[in-house]
Amino acid sequence: MKRIYLLTGLALLGLGALVAYTQAQKPLDPFEEAMRQRQMYLETFGVLPGELFAEEGKELFHRKGPSGKTLEACDFGKGPGVLEGVYAILPKYFPDSKRVEDLESRVYTCMQTVQGYKPQEIKRDEVRAITTYIASLSSKAKIQVVPKHPAELAMYNLGRELWYTRAGPRDMSCAVCHDQYAGQRVRLSPVRSPKQGLGNEWPAYRFEEDRLYTFEDRINFCYESIGIPKPEFYSEPHIALATYILAEATKAGHSFEELPFFTR
Ligand code: HEC
Repeated sequence: MKRIYLLTGLALLGLGALVAYTQAQKPLDPFEEAMRQRQMYLETFGVLPGELFAEEGKELFHRKGPSGKTLEACDFGKGPGVLEGVYAILPKYFPDSKRVEDLESRVYTCMQTVQGYKPQEIKRDEVRAITTYIASLSSKAKIQVVPKHPAELAMYNLGRELWYTRAGPRDMSCAVCHDQYAGQRVRLSPVRSPKQGLGNEWPAYRFEEDRLYTFEDRINFCYESIGIPKPEFYSEPHIALATYILAEATKAGHSFEELPFFTR
């Protein structure tokens, strides 16, 4: 089941490859380069690409769905219409859907239950933009994911299990890279553990890819780069991993970066 995501292919990428990447020749620092690009965008256009996604998301947030309602009628965790700081308290349990939801799945849920869209009518790009808009209103907020409800505790435990599940002849897992190699660099990128605030930069615009990544997109990128099937968007494995990672970041006292973040 969920384990399969981790079990199937983690083995494909060995630590040997990881070390080889780390020791590859050393061109310019990708993060300094990102800061340079960011400055260039600001000087040339006066706006960052991520801000354009947030702007688009704001328009979509106020668009009426088939039911005639906008997303203002959706409770994102602090009551309908309240958006400030909600990203910092998600994932959490919602009695109306009887599910623990992250922001992305919550947008997806409310587009159906409040706005009356059918699942097949919901475009991933729209959820991405709306998520970016709402998350931007938690820019710099202290992360406050503290599982209490039994369903939240269950999600945390499932997320931890997914995080640590070691598989295959190489015995790989998220933890093998992110905990054991925390603080080291792979392909010039520092690898962080949940305790070091993993997850606090998303949604982010990555200029190398010229794409906006939400947290679910970023987790899928990791699954992809190690060649294992990625979980469906809005699915339990995503929400579980987010719950675990952000609860650990909460314990360590982390805040979000300026959202949407701008990175390499
Ligand atoms: C083979 C090693 C490896 C494995 C296994 C791995 N990652 Fe990563 N991950 C990385 C590296 C390296 C980066 C940073 C690379 C970059 O930004 O190009 C990264 C980046 C990330 C980021 C974004 C960076 C940040 O600081 O916010 C997240 C989130 C993430 N990984 C989650 C996961 C999750 C969840 C799993 C398990 C499903 C996982 N990773 C498995 C190597 C790995």
